[in-house]
Amino acid sequence: MNRIVTFSGAGLSKESGIPTFRDSKDGLWHHFRVEDVATREAWLRNPELVLQFYETRWHNVQSCEPNAAHRAIASLDRSYEVINITQNVDDLLERAGAKQVIHLHGSLNARKCEWHHSIVGIKGDSEFHCDYRATQTAPVKLGELCPKCGGQLRPDVVWFGEAVDMQWNYFQMLAGQTDVFIGVGTSGQVEPAASLLSVFRKAKEKYFIDPEPPSGLSGYERLKGSACTHMPELAHGLIERLADVDPPPRYQSSESD
Ligand code: APR
Repeated sequence: MNRIVTFSGAGLSKESGIPTFRDSKDGLWHHFRVEDVATREAWLRNPELVLQFYETRWHNVQSCEPNAAHRAIASLDRSYEVINITQNVDDLLERAGAKQVIHLHGSLNARKCEWHHSIVGIKGDSEFHCDYRATQTAPVKLGELCPKCGGQLRPDVVWFGEAVDMQWNYFQMLAGQTDVFIGVGTSGQVEPAASLLSVFRKAKEKYFIDPEPPSGLSGYERLKGSACTHMPELAHGLIERLADVDPPPRYQSSESD
């Protein structure tokens, strides 16, 4: 079966009403300082402020619905094997029906112990010893403690300076077996995730949808504009194309036998 990989960022969910991070007017990082709400140091200094920030984001996502671009991506599952790699911590791809979603930066729908081993990556640090992680239906509050080690619970997201589980071997292998790679709605400014744009250069066909696509995307067809403008059309074309290549078997009446 033909394989599609999508790689998305905050721009994918923008038209659902979820702000991006770096857009000039309403980007989150123009209203909050990363150092105050999205680092380990911020957590140690003022966990209540950090939890408030994520609680507000959690409520924002709850009030939003998947948009036409999420639905278009999900529709590809009917014809292709689709793997969605996203930097987004919302669940709008899943709510649109997408089957395989890898959340590189974690999920607002999960919590983990503040001493979770994933925070420092595979090599670790003995202080980060805990493996408690769970889904959540309400945001974490200060005072909610880890049932395993008593640490304070925190959102299961990756803050600046923390380890991202990049599964490099898997992504390298996947890139060589990908027919169509679609980057959508990311500034491509944040490593290590942004390196996937280079890793997936091996894919046979590559698209990038964004009103302001990052520079240096050689080999990509740039579709300049919003996710909801371009993604449905691109998905429709990809599905139609397969239908042309593999027409369904024709019904033959017994009279023509
Ligand atoms: N459709 C598609 N793309 C859009 C739209 C839209 N309607 N509106 C804005 N964009 C694009 C912007 O042009 C920009 O390229 O979405 C991108 C958003 O970029 P960022 O705000 O940097 O978001 P992202 O790339 O997801 O950030 C990566 O940085 O702060 C961290 O952890 C956070 O996961 C995030 C990471």
